[in-house]
Amino acid sequence: MKKDDYVHGYTERENCRLFDQANTLNGLLHGDTVYPPGSAVLEAGCGVGAQTVLMAKNSPAARIISVDVSDASVRAARNLIRSEAPSNVAFCTADIYDPPFQDETFDHVFVCFVLEHVRDPVRALIRLKSVLKTGGSITVIEGDHGSALFYPESEDATRAIRCLVDIQADLGGNSLIGRQLFPLLKKAGFHRPEVSPRMVYADSSRPDWVRGFTRNTFNAMVEGVREQAIRKKLADPGQWERGIADLHATTGEDGVFCYTFFKARAEK
Ligand SMILES: C[S@@+](CC[C@H](N)C(=O)[O-])C[C@H]1O[C@@H](n2cnc3c(N)ncnc32)[C@H](O)[C@@H]1O
Repeated sequence: MKKDDYVHGYTERENCRLFDQANTLNGLLHGDTVYPPGSAVLEAGCGVGAQTVLMAKNSPAARIISVDVSDASVRAARNLIRSEAPSNVAFCTADIYDPPFQDETFDHVFVCFVLEHVRDPVRALIRLKSVLKTGGSITVIEGDHGSALFYPESEDATRAIRCLVDIQADLGGNSLIGRQLFPLLKKAGFHRPEVSPRMVYADSSRPDWVRGFTRNTFNAMVEGVREQAIRKKLADPGQWERGIADLHATTGEDGVFCYTFFKARAEK
């Protein structure tokens, strides 16, 4: 993947967003992923290590190898793990289309928020399947921006979200991929795919979700494509600012935001 093909970019702000996202969603998305002692786990697309730290703590005796195509992200992830102290993780820079491992190396593969960014998710899954041992498991977690429901309703806010969906699609990604995990895993030849939808619901009675998810994860992600949306004329500056203001109105006293992630597990 070329650096410019990654819709969220590799900025400091985006790195912070990844940590807010991972920490806020930890219980909802990761609590039921625990790898047995001694098992070999490949985390594909680790970014700056936001999920890696949580996974390493949940499975302290598993041996985790985390890879990402971005050298800078891998360096940041390595530094983070050094400071957070889990000793069961190693990193390398690698493309998931071409994982530098022998076939049947890993007991488990873990992929979180990555397939939405690749042009050919089935090919990526098939390559990951080759390095997985027969009988091993793959876990895939993805969002789906089509699942965003919010109050107050707003056409401008819906248009702002659509800008992100369209920009990501132009770059070869698919931010509506969550709903497709079941057919994608089947197409890639995995057995017994099981998908569980995980819903985030935030209103002012749940301030941690409003801050951690609506404001710092979702709205921050949409705000990140402002320049591209205006440059590509997907929204004019006025529409864009109104859309973002309306997204922030969902974090107010009477605001509501609801979003569904999809977590899938399948076997080779
Ligand atoms: C949204 S980030 C998610 C990072 C991490 N999994 C997390 O949830 O914090 C997506 C990551 O996928 C990586 N990525 C995209 N295409 C890739 C590829 N072909 N091979 C390896 N990593 C890739 C990007 O560099 C980026 O770090």
